[in-house]
Order: sequence, then structure tokens, then C-alpha cells
Amino acid sequence: MSTNTKRADAPVSRFDFVNGAGGATLSAADPHPTNHALATQLVVGLNGSVMVASRELTTETLGKPEVFSSADLVEQGNTRPLIPLGVDPPDHGRYRRLLDPMFSPRRMEAQEADIAERANRFIDAFADRGSCDFTTEFAELFPSAVFLGLMGLPWGELDTLVGMRDGLLHPGTPESTPQERTAIQRETAQRVYAYFDRILDDREASPRDDVLSELVGPDKDEPLSRDEALGTCFVLLTAGLDTVTDSLTCFWAYLAQHPDRRREIVADEAVIPHAVEELLRWETPVPMVVRWAREESDLGGEVVAAGHHVLVNLSAANLDPAEFDDPLTVRFDRAGNRHLAFGGGAHRCLGSHLARRELRIALREWHRRIPEYTLAPGYEVRYRPPLRFVPDLQLTWPV
Ligand code: HEM
Repeated sequence: MSTNTKRADAPVSRFDFVNGAGGATLSAADPHPTNHALATQLVVGLNGSVMVASRELTTETLGKPEVFSSADLVEQGNTRPLIPLGVDPPDHGRYRRLLDPMFSPRRMEAQEADIAERANRFIDAFADRGSCDFTTEFAELFPSAVFLGLMGLPWGELDTLVGMRDGLLHPGTPESTPQERTAIQRETAQRVYAYFDRILDDREASPRDDVLSELVGPDKDEPLSRDEALGTCFVLLTAGLDTVTDSLTCFWAYLAQHPDRRREIVADEAVIPHAVEELLRWETPVPMVVRWAREESDLGGEVVAAGHHVLVNLSAANLDPAEFDDPLTVRFDRAGNRHLAFGGGAHRCLGSHLARRELRIALREWHRRIPEYTLAPGYEVRYRPPLRFVPDLQLTWPV
């Protein structure tokens, strides 16, 4: 870092993923050749901001939240802080101490049977039909259904949850202007706050065995204020649903086109945890995260001006030959797969154990019931940014 640094109190601008600002969409369409080339470079200048792409520099950037900040950066129509995503250490640590136990491996293990039952409920609807739109009939619904279970909400709330998710993350139509989308996000954000405010009142009055009761439970060293609890519910909704949906569409699109890998899963369920890690590395459904430099900083020999964005290209880092042997080959027997699909440093994904469990269960239950499937005849896979996502995955199988 420079010794004579300039400091900034705020980022040069907020980061608007929905309207695709600042190059965040760069790596979603056909990312592997570009990202593999980027991973061996140091830093690429990008409209006044920089991108880090190597394993070493992405890890360095994510490991220095005091310099490369997440504070008040991402814009999702929220009027309360995004907790814990938009808060830097040391305050961030207080939130993670409270939230981490709610999403620990042991707690997620306790959800196993519930998650499997929810997966099968969707598969029941189309298994005998021999075809489905995987995206709309499974991937877009299953993670929200799992959330209902975690939050102690009835199945009948599925449409409400999905509607709120879409209002925040997919506002409007392709024809909508950025202003129209922002207006929908802001209106939805107020509905989300009001919805959870009512439920948190209920959980305070009559606690149950669910995440929302725990969020506002009395036996805490550092309890959350209601505003903080609402800021947290908002982030759980925006961080925990689409990410799993996107991963599911990428995984199934890959497996439908690579029958040898699919057969490895069918032949031996013990392969599934390794397949999840390797497909997370290969697909990197969250291709990029963003920081802003609190002070003028040096990254790999390039100066980042105070206040400017640093785009952290996780997809490229996951193809860095300095970390992965033969990075352009998908191998379910890869040893020591230290991918960065869940990010790194203080803001590393809170929900990684939940996400892994959802993905493993979905792969297991699906392949038990539908072991042979392909892309529907004439259908071509197209990925859509900013997260890597197949919006209309058409699958077909023998019945
Ligand atoms: C495969 C699915 C998922 C992927 C690929 C993923 C990826 C990520 C990444 C890359 C980050 C780091 C963001 C940053 O550094 O700016 C992150 C953070 C986060 N994720 Fe996930 N995520 C997934 C599923 C989930 C789920 C199911 C939840 C639900 C609890 C969740 C909750 C969060 C939260 C709350 C954060 C912010 C953590 C913090 O700031 O301390 N994620 N995720």
C-alpha cells in the first residue's frame, strides 16, 4: 500500500447489479476462456476501477476489508443497512457471531429430511411427464421452499416469498427503464420490511424453533435492534435464494450436456459432495463481488484511487493454474478443491453450509428418480448475467 495515501469517505457510486453497472456482467455468458486468460494477469483497468482476477490478488483484496470495503456499496432498494453484507469489520463481526451458529453445518444437517421432502414435492409434479422447464418448475422454487422451512413459514407463503424476491432482484420486464426498476425495488423493499416486521412481532411473542425466532430471541449477549433484524432478513432473502437457483440451473445444464459426469453421480452417490465443489468451482454462479478502496492503494503494482471500485473476479480466480491443476477440466476426483465460489475473508458466504446441503440433496433426489436426461431437442442453453443463470432450461427424459 502507498505510504502517502488519499482517503475517501464513500464509494464513488453505489453498485447496481440489476442494471448491470461497471462491468459486473463481463463474465456471465461464455466465461471460461476469458477468465482463464484473465487469471494469469495481474490487474485490469476498467472505467476508473480495477479488476483483480488471480487467486493471489482476489484473496488479498477480500482479506483486507479495512482497505477494500463493502460498506454501503450494493444498492437493492434497501433503506436499512444490508446486514452483514454491507457492513465492515469490526461491526460486521458482531453480526456474524450471532448469525453463524444459525447456519452452522450441524444446524443445516438437522434440516436434511425437510429439504429432501421439499425437493421431492417439486419432482413429483413432473417426474412422470418426461420433461420439464427445470428453471421455472424446480430451480426457482426449491430454494424458496427450503427458506419457508427454516423460517417456520407455511407452504402457502411460497408465492409471497418468490414475489418479494423477484421484486428486489428481477424488477420489471426487459423493456423497463432503470428508473422503473429502481422504483419497483424500492416499493418491494418496504413490503419486505413490513412483512418481516409482522412475523418478528409474532416470533417475539411466541417463539418457535426457527431462524426468525432465534434472530429476535431474548438470550443474546448482543441482541439485534428491530432495524438490524429487518436489515438481516432483507439480506437473507436477496443472498440466499437466487444464488442457489442460479447454481442449480448451471449444474443441470452442465450435467445434461456431459453424460459421463452425470453417470458418475448416478453410479455412486458418494461422488455428490465432490461434484458439488467442482461444479461450484467451474460454474462460479456468483462470478464477481465488489469492493471500494477506502484509501489510495496498491494492488499488484496498480494504483487504485480512493473511493474507486475493485471488481473481484471469483470466476477467474477459480481457473487460476497457480491454484488448480488443469483448471479447464471438470474432474469430480479433484483433490483439495479450495475454490472461491463462496467468496473469501470476513464476508465469506454465511449460507455456504445450507447451499451445499440444498445442492447435494437436489442432486441425490433428482438422480435417484431421473437418472437419464438430456436437453430437449432443439433447445440451446443460454446463460444470462449478472449472476450465471440459465433462464429457461428445458430437459427431457424417458418415461
Ligand atoms: C450456491 C449458493 C451460494 C453462492 C454461490 C453464494 C455466494 C456468496 C458469495 C460469493 C458471497 C460473498 C459476497 C461478498 O464478498 O461481497 C456470499 C455472501 C453471503 N451469502 Fe452466499 N452464496 C450462496 C448461498 C447462500 C445462502 C443459501 C445463503 C442463506 C443464508 C447465503 C447468505 C449469504 C450472506 C448473508 C452473505 C453475506 C455474508 C457477509 O457479508 O458476512 N448465501 N455468498
